[in-house]
Amino acid sequence: MLKVENINVYYGSIHAVKDISFEVNEGEIVTLIGANGAGKSTTLQTVSGLLRSKTGSIKFLGEEISAVLPHKIVTKGIAQVPEGRRVFLQMTVEENLQMGAYTRPSSEYADSIADVYERFPRLSERRKQVAGTLSGGEQQMLAMGRALMSKPRLLMLDEPSMGLAPILVEQIFEIIEELHKAGTTILLVEQNAQMALSIADRAYVLENGKISLTGTGAELMQSEDIKKAYLGG
Ligand SMILES: Nc1ncnc2c1ncn2[C@@H]1O[C@H](COP(=O)(O)OP(=O)(O)O)[C@@H](O)[C@H]1O
Ligand SMILES: [Mg+2]
Repeated sequence: MLKVENINVYYGSIHAVKDISFEVNEGEIVTLIGANGAGKSTTLQTVSGLLRSKTGSIKFLGEEISAVLPHKIVTKGIAQVPEGRRVFLQMTVEENLQMGAYTRPSSEYADSIADVYERFPRLSERRKQVAGTLSGGEQQMLAMGRALMSKPRLLMLDEPSMGLAPILVEQIFEIIEELHKAGTTILLVEQNAQMALSIADRAYVLENGKISLTGTGAELMQSEDIKKAYLGG
């Protein structure tokens, strides 16, 4: 579904992503794990068109998208939930969800928002509440709901567990698994390697902008290197 080949991304003279290649097949959960600064967010932002690679190619459903504008990429079926959620804090829950639907025909809106409220009952209870007053976990749900309003084929999540208490992290991961079961293909970026590997079909480890290791989620959980570096021994 997504095939990324030999991308190189720079911030001025900083070479943040170094010749990375990876792919996501339809129906998979694939995770990119790595420490802070490894290049995970840069990689996702390059797929969503917010940053550009100097080299290589990014194909989605067989089509080259590495020069396509970000909003057109959303239209093609890729949605990103950014790191730190980035919901519109002064807007209500419902207004935030409306923003997520801007690439879709208005005739779909009622069904889409009903689906999101069914999946996230907490958002339904808070539809008129201003997003800035939601808890961190609820804001994460809102950011995910907003992404789902664009009816993505591929949902990219950038560190959904960041800053959340363990019980909320578990809830968010359960929701990710439910979305996956319902047919959404998922590319998950995480520092929380334990949680990410436990739900992933396949995983790539990013270190200093390079992919250092790849395998199934189960294989990497058993890897001694991974245990030492990312799973606390
Ligand atoms: N806007 C930016 N300007 C300059 N350097 C950046 C910027 N964003 C990220 N970087 C650098 O690029 C590297 C990768 O960052 P990032 O992709 O955010 O890593 P991760 O998401 O894995 O924590 C880091 O060295 C980081 O300092
Ligand atoms: Mg990041």
